[in-house]
Amino acid sequence: MRIAHISDPHINLKYHPQHLPRLRRVLEDALQRQAADHIVLTGDLTSNADARDLRTTRRLFETLGIMSASKLTIVPGNHDIYGGPHLAEELLGFPDRCKTTDYDEKLSIFQDTFSELFSDTIISGGSYPFLKRIRNVCFLGLNSNARHSLLNNPVGSNGEVGKPDRKEITELTKHHAWQTASQRIVLMHHHLFRRKDLDHLRLPDGVTSVGIAALLEQRTLKLHGKRHILKTFGEIGADMVLHGHVHFTAEYERHGIVCLNGAGAVHPISRSDGFNYFVIDVKPYQREISMVELPKKISEATVSSSDGNNLVTAAA
Ligand SMILES: [Fe+2]
Repeated sequence: MRIAHISDPHINLKYHPQHLPRLRRVLEDALQRQAADHIVLTGDLTSNADARDLRTTRRLFETLGIMSASKLTIVPGNHDIYGGPHLAEELLGFPDRCKTTDYDEKLSIFQDTFSELFSDTIISGGSYPFLKRIRNVCFLGLNSNARHSLLNNPVGSNGEVGKPDRKEITELTKHHAWQTASQRIVLMHHHLFRRKDLDHLRLPDGVTSVGIAALLEQRTLKLHGKRHILKTFGEIGADMVLHGHVHFTAEYERHGIVCLNGAGAVHPISRSDGFNYFVIDVKPYQREISMVELPKKISEATVSSSDGNNLVTAAA
């Protein structure tokens, strides 16, 4: 089974109109050139949590024939709940917007828009965590978005997998769907990097970690309690973690678990890095990970002037 991992397309018809054709080309590349059987999208499907953008994204999936649970698995990112500031003048008011965001309502809209994709998931209570078994692979889908907090999550972009969630994960993964899978893959939006992991990232050819370092230091891009989360992932026997959130493509390892950041596929920090995503080929006794770059001709067709400086840089 071939899985394509893409993250953070940030669909937004108003401020990022180029992202829709670019996501389309990445998905077509994954489905046709890479012959992917299944697509995984780890959050920030939309940039501003607009219902219209969610519906547009859904229509793209329908057009490509992947709007079904067996073809596509998604989890939400912070932009799907809180949105983001897109113009400099929106920056000041954004913390207030996050404070008044109805987290549960936004999550419901996300779930309802893509309800078919969750139709055969195994859950123990709410929508997350969920298990989805496809052939010999079992996905554990998490909602890693923290609720708003003036101190710990003022602009909605921090992540959390708290103690009750970790307990639920431990219980849910006792299910035979997880226990008997040959690859157990965690899907979440937030990343597991530490500053010191920078030297050990596998990046696309020609890309350096300059610029990435500053992002990883930001207080507003944290996943709280990484050590506890990794301990739980180790205990449940996770083989891989696929995530997004910081907009570049990289492979690294934490506690013996391979982690892939697929967030450079559509809206990378630097356009000159190209548009990269992952293909994971799972065979009975073997797993192969490839970092795939969108062919230059295709990626150039989707670069527009609105990628430029008039927008607040959305790096997460
Ligand atoms: Fe993002």
